[in-house]
Amino acid sequence: MNINLAVIRGDGIGPEVTAEAIKILDEIASLYNHKFNYNEVLAGGVAIDETGECLPEITVKTCKRSDAVILGAVGGPKWDDFPGSKRPEQALLGLRKALNLYANIRPAIMFDALSDACPLKEELVKGGLNLVVVRELTGGIYFGEKGRKIVDGYEAAYDVEEYNVMEIERIAKTAFELAMKRNKKVTSVDKANVLESSRLWRSTVNNVSKDYPKVELNHQYVDNAAMQIVRNPKQYDVILTSNLFGDILSDEASQVTGSIGMLPSSSLSKGNFGMYEPIHGSAPDIAGQNIANPMATILSCAMMLRTTFNLIKEADTIESAVTKTLNDGYRTMDIAKPREKVTGTKEIGDIIKSNLKILI
Ligand code: IPM
Ligand code: MG
Repeated sequence: MNINLAVIRGDGIGPEVTAEAIKILDEIASLYNHKFNYNEVLAGGVAIDETGECLPEITVKTCKRSDAVILGAVGGPKWDDFPGSKRPEQALLGLRKALNLYANIRPAIMFDALSDACPLKEELVKGGLNLVVVRELTGGIYFGEKGRKIVDGYEAAYDVEEYNVMEIERIAKTAFELAMKRNKKVTSVDKANVLESSRLWRSTVNNVSKDYPKVELNHQYVDNAAMQIVRNPKQYDVILTSNLFGDILSDEASQVTGSIGMLPSSSLSKGNFGMYEPIHGSAPDIAGQNIANPMATILSCAMMLRTTFNLIKEADTIESAVTKTLNDGYRTMDIAKPREKVTGTKEIGDIIKSNLKILI
């Protein structure tokens, strides 16, 4: 295949981890006879520094023209004092909206070799942990009306949570379709005992579920879900939820696996176009030191090959190469135990690359 990728390296460790991901994609290209063309574009803090805007027009255009987007990470303390609408994070929100990436898929998987890092009692995660958060990504409170006003002489601020049926239906479909390929269980998380938007969410999800009689559906309030994820995470297969609740619960779920530096994500629009990025952030404190873990970005590329390009063998090979690297005992700093030998960003990229050849 001849594939055009937009690459946004971003800030902090973003450039280092994307460099390793590209190293792996290039090896996959030569092993399986594909061609990846990379179009580098700017977004986030680095774009502010170079162009004055966090999301230049050309970035959006290039992403739209590409077959998929790879993103490292954006943000950092340097731009923390910028006003809300000018912060690097705004580039992410802008990209999600401009590319209509309404479905955010965040698998939380425990790697066997890293099960020691799981903060929960062994009996709670026995046999592994494999759930996925399906988060609505272009609506809700993130994109609702917001503003400031004076109420009773005091300054007030508001952010509106609003969803329409179309937005809920399409993300619910994504969750049910995914559940059909997995363990056929969807847990929809809302706050329907308080919020009107959640009541619409719940009734719409119930309607969509009629098309998926094989999938077991249940509903949880978000406060209960936050508790259940640490109390009994194995009850979940697919968690379906709104933008804000998904932001919070996906961090919680990924931390529970103990593998947060390892987890990939995709943000999809219709037709499987997607932006792929690690779950972790830009980690400015460790940037430029060759100590970041590139595996989440590498696994995001595997997710891309499988989801957007249906290149299943290629995706499997990358995932097996990462697993073998862990099983052989290689660790980046974030996942190493005290006194364990630590491998650098580039070096672990090289090891994964050489494992691809062995596993093909
Ligand atoms: C995420 C991040 C973003 C979000 C921030 C950086 C805007 O936390 O992707 O989960 O809140 O969606
Ligand atoms: Mg988040």
